[in-house]
Amino acid sequence: MSDTHDWVDLGLASELTGKPVQQLLARRTKIALVCRDGAFTAISAVCNHAGGPLGEGRLDGDYLECPWHFWKFHHATGKGEPGFEEDAVPAYTLKVEDGRLLLDLNSATPRQRKPHPPHPLARPVQREAGPIRIVGLSTTAMTKDHPRPSTSELLLEEALRHGAARGCETRMIRLRDLDFRACEGFYSRSARACTWPCSITQMDPTDQLDQVYEALVHWADVYVLATPIRWGAASSLYFKMVERMNCIQNQETINNRHLLRNKTAAFIVTGGQDNVQGTVGQMLGFFAELGVQFPQFPYVAHSRGWTAEDMENNIRSVQNSESLREGTRALVDRSVDMAAMMLGGALAEPHRARGGRKAHRLD
Ligand code: FES
Repeated sequence: MSDTHDWVDLGLASELTGKPVQQLLARRTKIALVCRDGAFTAISAVCNHAGGPLGEGRLDGDYLECPWHFWKFHHATGKGEPGFEEDAVPAYTLKVEDGRLLLDLNSATPRQRKPHPPHPLARPVQREAGPIRIVGLSTTAMTKDHPRPSTSELLLEEALRHGAARGCETRMIRLRDLDFRACEGFYSRSARACTWPCSITQMDPTDQLDQVYEALVHWADVYVLATPIRWGAASSLYFKMVERMNCIQNQETINNRHLLRNKTAAFIVTGGQDNVQGTVGQMLGFFAELGVQFPQFPYVAHSRGWTAEDMENNIRSVQNSESLREGTRALVDRSVDMAAMMLGGALAEPHRARGGRKAHRLD
């Protein structure tokens, strides 16, 4: 805070009383102006966390809550909520003169940031030496206490067995075993509100999707995703995971940062009825947008068609089909070969001009 003042006219006080919270500019400084019972207070509108617009937040008691990920700052002192007082945004002195509200830019208290250790997922993406690593992701939903056979998971288990026999490291993740929240669509507020690591992962230590992020970003070279067909589409758990993976794609859009480097994805799709092509097409489209590579013939699938509703026979037919297991093993072989080629450096880094890519702006 300086000894001299630098008063900036914010406008007619009578007009500024209309809203409890508003975002204003004092010259080029973003201000969150609060009005309670006719009394004004002002703090910086730039949140300490990721720069969210505090002036678009809401009051929760004495605290102004950031609309992006809900950090709170005292509306008058700028200090963080109890326990986080060291996290403070600047607070400003105000006065009313001749009916006009004035803010002293020189009165700003210092911005302070409580040190927050970086989330483990935020570490640089660097492949550790070792054999090719395959993560199998089963997206089949079922009750944990009363499991039932799943045809896509049967084939996924075969895929991982074969990968291990080839000398790969393998890991199985069944999404149904993880307790994870639905994506809350932070990017709908602002692209920059969708962070890497995922904002939910950073805020909620009980959320278990970190295991998927860890495997996809830091650990695995090959992803094998298995899904049943549910009403012509992949399973609900697949989509729940994919929505949470927006934070990976969003890094491409806002930071030109490619998190899934040298990754290969392949798919196992089974359904008692149909729409293999539509289901796989959508999965391929999503992973392509993440910059993931595919093996030749990137999926195996099985469907008995519209008239089949006798699922017990479906399970038996997959269980007994040596050709499906053989096809699954070949899918793993193709995926591992593709991963080895990329890791061997034979595939150049992609040329990544933005034109035509997601969210690019026409000039
Ligand atoms: S809580 Fe404000 S930007 Fe994240």
